[in-house]
Amino acid sequence: MTKPTQCPVMTTSAGAPIADNQNSLSAGPRGPLLMQDWQLIEKLAHQNRERIPERVVHAKGWGAYGTLTITNDISQYTVAKVFSEIGKKTELIARFSTVAGEQGAADAERDVRGFGIKFYTEEGNWDLVGNNTPVFFIRDPLKFPDFIRTQKRHPATNLRSNTAAWDFWSHSPESLHQVTILMSDRGIPASPRFMNGYGSHTFSFWNANGERFWVKFHFKTKQGQHTLSNEEATAIIGKTRESYQEDLYGAIARGDHPKWTMYVQVMPEKEAETTPYNPFDLTKVWPHSDYPLIEVGVMELNRNAANYFAEIEQLALSPSNIVPGIGFSPDKVLQARVFSYADAHRYRLGTHYESLPVNRPKCPVHHYHKDGSMNPYGQDYAQMTGHPDAYYEPNSFGGATQNPAVAEPPLAINLEAARWNHRDASGSGDDYYSQPRALWKLFDAAHQARVCANIAGSMAGVPDFIVERALAHFDQIDPAYGAGIRKALGK
Ligand code: NDP
Ligand code: HEM
Repeated sequence: MTKPTQCPVMTTSAGAPIADNQNSLSAGPRGPLLMQDWQLIEKLAHQNRERIPERVVHAKGWGAYGTLTITNDISQYTVAKVFSEIGKKTELIARFSTVAGEQGAADAERDVRGFGIKFYTEEGNWDLVGNNTPVFFIRDPLKFPDFIRTQKRHPATNLRSNTAAWDFWSHSPESLHQVTILMSDRGIPASPRFMNGYGSHTFSFWNANGERFWVKFHFKTKQGQHTLSNEEATAIIGKTRESYQEDLYGAIARGDHPKWTMYVQVMPEKEAETTPYNPFDLTKVWPHSDYPLIEVGVMELNRNAANYFAEIEQLALSPSNIVPGIGFSPDKVLQARVFSYADAHRYRLGTHYESLPVNRPKCPVHHYHKDGSMNPYGQDYAQMTGHPDAYYEPNSFGGATQNPAVAEPPLAINLEAARWNHRDASGSGDDYYSQPRALWKLFDAAHQARVCANIAGSMAGVPDFIVERALAHFDQIDPAYGAGIRKALGK
C-alpha cells in the first residue's frame, strides 16, 4: 500500500462538500450540541441502519466467485445451456455456511455445512442451494421450523440444548442417516475447501425430445477430505473463530484456487415408479451402484469478494431459481423451499433484491414488476420491457413476450390430496435404517468408535428416557452401533 498524494473531497450523501469531519457543532467549546448539526445526525442514523437481519438459518458464511467448466457432454439429458458443450465456462458465486450458528459463531463447529452456488447462465441465474451432505434430517417441510428450533437457543436459558436436539431426533427416525453423517469425521470439515457438496434433493432435467430425467448433483472436492476431531476444533476455536474465512479467503488470495469435480446421477422418469426406495425422499441417497456418477465439469473458485457485505451477505440464493432444462421434482421439502427463500430475501434484502449487483443476472432481464421502494432499475420501460408504452402484457408495442419453446414437458399427476403420513410405508417412508447401516458399515472400526464417542458427547445432560429412545433406533441400524454408543456413555 503506497501513501496517497491527494484525496478526494469528502461530501454529504447529497454531495455537498464537508468542512469538518472531526468536531460536532456546539454552542461554545463545552457544548451543548445544536440540532442543526445534520452531519452528526446523519452519521449516527446511518450507523443505526448498518445491520440487516441475518439469515434465519445459515447465518455464518464464507464465499467467493468462480467458474464452472464443462468437461463432459450431458446434452442427451438436458437442454440447459450451461451444459451445452464441452469447454463451456459459466461464471458463478458460491457461499458456504454453518446451519445453526449466528453470524458471529465460530467456524469450526460440528454442524452440517451449506453449499450454495449461483450460476450466472446465459438463460438466467440457476441457484443450486445444497449442503455438504447428500441427505437431510427431515422429509416433510412441515417439520423444518420445529427442527430448526431444536438447533437454536432455548427460550429461557438462551443456550443451545442437547435435550431438544435428541428429543427431536429420537422422535424422527428419518433423521438417523443425516445424524450419522453429522457425527462422523465429516461433521467438522477443516474448511470449505475440503468438503464435498450435494444438491441433496432430486431435481429434473429435460432434453430436446421432451424426455424427463430425475437428477441428483454432486461436487467432490479435489483438495481431498480434511476434517477436524472435536479436540482439534476446540483448539482452533480457542485461537480463532474465523478459521474458514481465513483459510478460504487466504487460499484464493494467494492463487491456490480450490476445485470440485461436478457429477450427476440420472434416472429416467418412469424408473422412479419401480425403485425400492422413494427417489424423492430427501433422507435417502440413490446408491452409486444403481445410478453411477456421471462427470459433468469442474468448479473452480478464483476470486474473493471485494466487499463481504455487498457480495456475500447480500447474496440471495434460492432453489426457485431454475433455468430451461432444469426443473423441480415431487420432493416435498424442495417444493417448500421453492417458496421459502425468495420470501426470506424480500424480508432480509427488500423487494428488489434480485437487482442488487451480486444477484443481478448477467443476461438481459425483461419483466413487468413495477415501482416499489428503492428500485435501482428505475422505471425505464424502454429498457425493462422493450418499449416505453409496454408497461402491461400483452401489449401492441413490442414489449417482451413469453417463449413457449422453453416450457417444461408436462408432468402427469393424478393423485388424492391428503395429509399423507410421511412415516408410513406408502411412500417407502418406513425404512429408516438400511441406508444409515450402509454408511455405518463403510466406516472402519476406529471411525465407528469416533462416531459413537461424538454421539455420546452430544448427549451430555439429556434425560435418560430420551437417550434410551434414541438408542433403540441406533440398535436397529446395527446392534454394534447402539452398543458402541452405550459403551461411550458408560452404560
Ligand atoms: P458407495 O460405496 O458407492 O459410496 C460411498 C459414499 O460414501 C461415497 O460417496 C463417499 O464419499 C461417501 N462417504 C464416505 N464417508 C462418508 C461420511 N463420513 N459421510 C458422508 N459420506 C461419506 O456407496 P453407496 O452409493 O451404495 O452408498 C452407501 C452409503 O454411502 C449411503 O447410504 C450414504 O450414507 C453414503 N453416501 C452415498 C452417496 C450416494 O450418492 N450414493 C453420497 C454420499 C454418501 P467420497 O467418494 O467423497 O469419499
Ligand atoms: C438458507 C429455509 C431446507 C440449504 C435458508 C434460509 C431459509 C431456509 C429461509 C435463509 C435464506 C436467506 O435469507 O437468504 C429452508 C426451509 C427448508 C430448508 C424452509 C425445508 C423445508 C434446506 C435444505 C438444504 C438447505 C434441505 C440443503 C439441501 C440451505 C443453504 C442456505 C439456506 C445452503 C444458505 C444459503 C446462502 O448461503 O445464502 N434456508 N431451508 N436448506 N438453506 Fe435452507
